[in-house]
Amino acid sequence: MHLEKNVSLKSFNTFGIDVTSDNYCEVRTREEFIELTHTPVFKAEKNLILGGGSNVLFTKNFDGLVIRNSNKGIEIISETDHDILLRVNSGEVWHNTVLFCVKNNWGGIENLSLIPGTIGAAPIQNIGAYGVEVREVIEKVEVIEFESGEIRTFTNKECEFGYRESIFKRKLKEKIFISSVTLRLSKKNHKLNTSYGAIAETLLKMNIVSPTIQSVSDAVIKIRSEKLPDFTQLGNAGSFFKNPEIGQEQFEKIKKEFPSIPHYPAANQQVKVPAGWLIEQCGWKGKRINNAGVHAQQALVLVNFGNASGEEIFQLAQNILSSVKEKFSIALTPEVNIF
Ligand code: EPU
Repeated sequence: MHLEKNVSLKSFNTFGIDVTSDNYCEVRTREEFIELTHTPVFKAEKNLILGGGSNVLFTKNFDGLVIRNSNKGIEIISETDHDILLRVNSGEVWHNTVLFCVKNNWGGIENLSLIPGTIGAAPIQNIGAYGVEVREVIEKVEVIEFESGEIRTFTNKECEFGYRESIFKRKLKEKIFISSVTLRLSKKNHKLNTSYGAIAETLLKMNIVSPTIQSVSDAVIKIRSEKLPDFTQLGNAGSFFKNPEIGQEQFEKIKKEFPSIPHYPAANQQVKVPAGWLIEQCGWKGKRINNAGVHAQQALVLVNFGNASGEEIFQLAQNILSSVKEKFSIALTPEVNIF
């Protein structure tokens, strides 16, 4: 474990924002993290754990300790003829893990191909795409408590998962470090999820009639690569806002004026509407203001065209929020963590 001062975070966040952290440390094992929790710098500072840095927007220098999680390793815990339990350390790159599982014909996470970030970040916001959420395959999550340095295990139920939500984002926010995630994946009779429109269409285009987990993963990679910008070319953090859930009455009112509004059923008789559609209706899609902008293929993704400051992206997000609020009376909430 090696502590450094005034470290640039530019290459550690996918928006590519050029800020520094007062203190910085890379952690490679669970034991190193436990050791870190007992150090004065950890106890004294505001701590931020960075995995892939793919869901953060820095609007200023970070006046605390940034901990970069490089805790790697994948281990088979147990297996039957039907399924396999896999413990993955939190610093593993999510997409590499997906590819590894697909290659071994272990099913359950193929729809979540190409999502940026690490394994440790996946349960925090219950990553989801193309009809699948990671909660469906999580058996348990192992964490280390900041205060005591002790290890605790959360069962799937104890994680309190919701749409882009979990206990780690709420009650345990800034209180724990996720050290590993155990996944339960299928070895045969895979439950393929191809119901999401774009997947079915892409498989058809690829001339695939009997899809496998490999072909579903390939289709998702194709869709995402066409629609979502590659952060190594164009800085971004995926969806900037969550898709809002609104009441039936409000939805009917909007639908009268915009009959083609896409929508999905949500919990408690709410209706989920795509934030990307709302933003597009407000005229933001493809707009660029100095170095910050709204992606031309997906309005939910804000981009850094080069040297945008975090403040510039933040201001753009605020302006988008105001337009959506004014036009639809819907308050969007960011999915990205803003510092
Ligand atoms: N739409 C528009 N204009 C846009 C973008 C979208 O009209 O600019 C419409 C689409 O035509 C479609 C609907 O909105 O009818 C939904 O669009 P899409 O399928 O692209 O998905 P999304 O709701 O915008 C969510 C996730 C993505 C995930 C996709 C696919 C959230 C906040 N985002 O986006 O996740 O990849 O579904 O499942 O739930 C991420 O979280 O970073 C992320 C990329």
